[in-house]
Amino acid sequence: MENYVYSSETSEDSDCNDDMKEGFCCDADNPNACCHKDYNGSIRGATSDCRVVDDPSCNPDRPLKVTFEEITSAAYKIKSGIINTPCSKSHMSSLTGMDIYLKKDFLQNTGSFKDRGARYAMLTLTPERRQKGVIAASLGNHAQAVCYHGHQLGIPVTVVMPIIAPIMKIQKCKEYNATVVMEGKDMAEARKIAMKMAKDKGFTYINGYDHPQIIAGQGTIALEIMEQVDNIDAIVVPTGGGGLLAGVAVAVKTLHPNIKIIGVESERCASFSQAMEQEKPVPTAIEGTLADGLAVPMVGYNAWETAKSLIDKMVVVKEEWIAVAILRMVELEKCVVEGAGAVGLAAILAGQLDEFKGKRIVLILSGGNIDTTILGRCLERGLAADGRLVKFKVTVSDRPGGILELCKLIGSIGVSIKDVIHERAWVTSDVFSVEVKVVAETRDYSHSMELRDLLNSRYKKVKFENLPENLAVSSTSEH
Ligand SMILES: Cc1ncc(COP(=O)(O)O)c(C=O)c1O
Repeated sequence: MENYVYSSETSEDSDCNDDMKEGFCCDADNPNACCHKDYNGSIRGATSDCRVVDDPSCNPDRPLKVTFEEITSAAYKIKSGIINTPCSKSHMSSLTGMDIYLKKDFLQNTGSFKDRGARYAMLTLTPERRQKGVIAASLGNHAQAVCYHGHQLGIPVTVVMPIIAPIMKIQKCKEYNATVVMEGKDMAEARKIAMKMAKDKGFTYINGYDHPQIIAGQGTIALEIMEQVDNIDAIVVPTGGGGLLAGVAVAVKTLHPNIKIIGVESERCASFSQAMEQEKPVPTAIEGTLADGLAVPMVGYNAWETAKSLIDKMVVVKEEWIAVAILRMVELEKCVVEGAGAVGLAAILAGQLDEFKGKRIVLILSGGNIDTTILGRCLERGLAADGRLVKFKVTVSDRPGGILELCKLIGSIGVSIKDVIHERAWVTSDVFSVEVKVVAETRDYSHSMELRDLLNSRYKKVKFENLPENLAVSSTSEH
C-alpha cells in the first residue's frame, strides 16, 4: 500500500462506488485520479490528484527501524533546548503497593514530551530545508512543540489544526509566530491538507509520531529515566501513534533488556493493541476520549516496525479510570496532567498492572496541556467514578418537614449536599409523597456506602445512580 497525496477537490460524479478500494484508479482518462474514502470509511468521490508517496520519511513499503545510536545522537543534539525533567518517587507508592516513580515531562517548555522529537527533527534539517520551513498537522502537543522550537531555531513553521483543536492550543501556536491553518474536520483531513501544502510550497512535513527523528527524539526520555532511577522493573508509556513507545523501547531494551515495556491506550483509541492483534498497523475506530493526545486512528509504520518486537504488554484502560487518575494526580501529587499523560496511573488504579506489586515501576507523565474547563469536568468525573460524588433519588413524605428530615439525615453523617431538586407532579403512587433528587459529596467510597445504608434504613424508595460497584484501588482517605 502506498501513501497518496490528495487534492482537496473531489468529484462526486466519478465512477467511484463503495466496492472500490481507496487509492485505486477510477478514471480511465486521468491516471492520477483515484477513489478517496472519507474519515469514517465511505467513498467520497474521486480525487483528481492522487500521486504516490509524499512523505519519504514514512513509507509503509520501506518502514525504518530507529536505532539506539540515533537516540543517543538526538540526546546530545537537543540537550541545550530541552529540560531534563525530574523523575521523583510518587506519594502513591503505598496506596498502590508499588514503588512508583513519575517522569514529569509535562514540565517541558510546551507542556509535553513532544519538545524532544520536534527539536531533533528540526535540528537535523539541511540549511535549505530549514530556510523553506516545516509543516505539521496536529491537534495540539506536536503542533505546539514544532511552533516553539521553530521559533527558537529561526525555522518558519506552518501547522494545520483541525477545527476541533482546543482554542488554548491554537492560541499558543500563534504566540510562537507560526502560520496556523484551521482546516479539516479531524486529524485525517488536516493531515491531507498539510501534505498537499508541503508539496505545493516545498515545506518539510514532520509527522508527529512516525518521522524517524521524532521517534529518536522521544527515545531520549528513556535515557534520562535510566540515569535517574536504579533497578527499574517496568516503564509505562502512554501510546498514541507509537512514536514515544518505539523510542523508549529501543533505548531501554538496548541498555537493560530485563526492564519491561508496557504501552497504555484508552479503550476509545486502541490502535496499537489492534496492530498487535493483526500484526500490522490497521485503521482503528476512534471515539471522543479524555486522552485526546492518544487519539490516532492508525499507528505509524516506522513506529510499529521499531517497537513491535520490544513491547512486553499493551494495556487498554477505561475512560473512568483516566478521570480518576487525573484526580489522583491533582490531589496526591499536585500535578496537572492531561488525560493522555495519566493513562499509566489509570492502568495501575484499575488493577491492570497488579503483577508489578512490590516492584519498581516508572510512569511517563507525558503531557499537561489540558483546558481548565476540561480539567474541571475530569475532576468531577473522577469524583463520581471514585464514588465520592453521588447522585440518588429518595421518595419522602410531602408533609411539612419531610424534606427537612431528609437533609438532616444526610447532614448527620457529614455528607454535604451539592444540589437538591424535588418533584411532585410525576410521583405516580402517592399524592403525599415527593421524589427528591440529590447530588452530594462524600469523603470516600465507604462514606457513600454508609449514606446508602442509612437512607435504605429510613426510606422505602432509594435509588443511587452510577455508584461504582467496587473499586480496585479505592479513594484516597481509606489508606
Ligand atoms: C501527552 C501525550 N502523551 C502521549 C502521546 C502519545 O505519543 P505517540 O503518538 O508518539 O504514541 C501523545 C501524542 O500526542 C501526547 O500528546
